[in-house]
Amino acid sequence: MSHKALTKTLKDNALKMTEKSFSPYSNFQVGASLCSDSDRIFNGCNVENLAFPVGTCAEEAAIAAMISAGEHKIKEIVIVASKDGKEVPCSPCGACRQRIAQFSDKDTLIRFVDASGTMVAQTISELLPHSFSFE
Ligand code: THU
Repeated sequence: MSHKALTKTLKDNALKMTEKSFSPYSNFQVGASLCSDSDRIFNGCNVENLAFPVGTCAEEAAIAAMISAGEHKIKEIVIVASKDGKEVPCSPCGACRQRIAQFSDKDTLIRFVDASGTMVAQTISELLPHSFSFE
């Protein structure tokens, strides 16, 4: 698959995932779709809970699916959000930046719609500079 076709597939999957989202409290549907370095695709959506902090993010679900399949590196991840049936900006939250960082390298692309409404591609060092390390 060409790179452009891969990005489109991930974007389509992420959008489909927003329809699976369980988000009755925020009414903010998030979908994430990622491709691992073995070219396998994993998807996830946010899952909210009546006890609010227990809810989980879309990126978290997609990463858990990747790890469950034995894959450990993200080549590309696309995050899409929708509210009231309309696509809206969604920059990954701080915790998800840390989660993505764990399984990324300098070439990993993180695509999402920024606050200006533009789909951007960022690296993890742009999204999470000075990230935590034991060293
Ligand atoms: N959410 C995600 O799924 N990913 C993010 O990166 C940001 C926020 C979800 C959590 C919650 O269900 C809803 O969006 C509103 O915060």
